[in-house]
Amino acid sequence: MQLDTIVKGGTVVTPGGTFVGDVGIAGEKIAALGSSLDAAGAKTIDATDHYVIPGVLDVHVHLELPFCGTVSADDYRSGTRAGARGGVTTLIDFAIPYAGDSLNDAADNWMKKAERKSLIDYTFHICITRWNEHKDQIEGMVKRGFTTFKEFMIYESEGWQSDDRALYGTLEKMREYGTMLLVHAESARVLDELIARHHTPELMKQYGARLHPMTRPNFVEAEAIQRAVQWSEATGGKLYIVHMSTGEGADIIRAAQARGVPVIAETCVQYLVLDDSVFEREDGHLFACCPQLKKPKDVQRLWQGLNGGEVSVISTDTCTFTREQKAMWEGDWTKIPMGMPGLETLLPLTYTHGVLGGRMSIEDMCMKLSTNPARIMNLAPRKGSISIGADADLAIIHPTRKHTVDPSAMETNADWSPFEGWELAGFARTTVSRGDVIVDDYRVVGKEGRGVWLRRESGIGNRESMLPGAVSIPDSRFPIPAGAR
Ligand code: URP
Ligand code: ZN
Ligand code: ZN
Repeated sequence: MQLDTIVKGGTVVTPGGTFVGDVGIAGEKIAALGSSLDAAGAKTIDATDHYVIPGVLDVHVHLELPFCGTVSADDYRSGTRAGARGGVTTLIDFAIPYAGDSLNDAADNWMKKAERKSLIDYTFHICITRWNEHKDQIEGMVKRGFTTFKEFMIYESEGWQSDDRALYGTLEKMREYGTMLLVHAESARVLDELIARHHTPELMKQYGARLHPMTRPNFVEAEAIQRAVQWSEATGGKLYIVHMSTGEGADIIRAAQARGVPVIAETCVQYLVLDDSVFEREDGHLFACCPQLKKPKDVQRLWQGLNGGEVSVISTDTCTFTREQKAMWEGDWTKIPMGMPGLETLLPLTYTHGVLGGRMSIEDMCMKLSTNPARIMNLAPRKGSISIGADADLAIIHPTRKHTVDPSAMETNADWSPFEGWELAGFARTTVSRGDVIVDDYRVVGKEGRGVWLRRESGIGNRESMLPGAVSIPDSRFPIPAGAR
């Protein structure tokens, strides 16, 4: 077969094993894997002394999101350029219906935000914010090519909050359609009560932004995860806990999975590399996100959960606010726009602190950043692995070359970074999306608007990727060529 491009001589990570060799690309697809592919007539990309890994899927992203009285600062242009620089080739955002919007309207709205701007491929989780109105629209969205839905157990003031009736009813429908419900699990009533008790001028003066972690003890997340798990167990509906931040959450998920409950958990990279001591800093308010950063023991438990298999995915929950937007708080922590930039640093942080930090292998990292997210979100086998027939989405990274995180040199619209000054390896020297080079020599070269919406079919997501121990199971459906180990 005539190949258009050959990625030559890299250390190629596939679900079936890692080998030094070549990846052959024909059109938008991976067409060959081998030790010395015939380069005649093909463009070559030299990957000698580099890892060639599957493009990263960040399945938890908010771009241009109206939230906390402002709009998040990265749109599909800056956000996807940032992602590409960090080796991200697919993202999933959340389409949220606003006043009077149907689920279809929400999807249309988010399509408009992405079209003509997105550099990488994308789709959306469809948010159910008014159960009575939205429940009969779910089936139509499945037919339209959306297979993941989302409910928030908090955010009443945003008009997004779902109650137990909605969670239960949605999970019943997820079982019926073979789809999955993503849940932001925090206990709304207790959280509101704790916030109200602390919302006094004296305490705000005394503690400032530290009130953010002080009013969200771990049981706020743990109780809500436990309750959502209960509804998943009762209905058999597939559940995915987003941005899990607590050790207690990991314990609950592990126990539920052992009972056979169809629940999966994601954490975000910030919960693996930061803890709530950042709130002691003068600019600690910048780090307010929801859920907030937790304690070092939680950080440790989440790494353990990645190894044990109860944490299946690492994402970012990118929701960028500039310093000016964060300054809206004026000393009242309940007014801080919650969220942080993340797309650009997901792979570098996971690689540096996970792989170079000796906490996970490169194969396990690819499982958590690419293969598992693709399988769980019904995007495999098209996305998530270096295998014949898959989209040619690749990140080529140097094993040790480090860059200093410098917001002024980044693609995100954020004028700060939670990781400013950190030395990180794992930025993409080259990012390839469906055969196109979109990052070359660490610089974005791809054209905005080239990204496509990804239609999904239900029921493809595979059960084994949800189970404990699924971190690095070689998958026989993704064979690597004989002699290419
Ligand atoms: O702080 C965050 N995570 N903002 C985005 C909204 C959410 O809950 O994911
Ligand atoms: Zn959330
Ligand atoms: Zn989020």
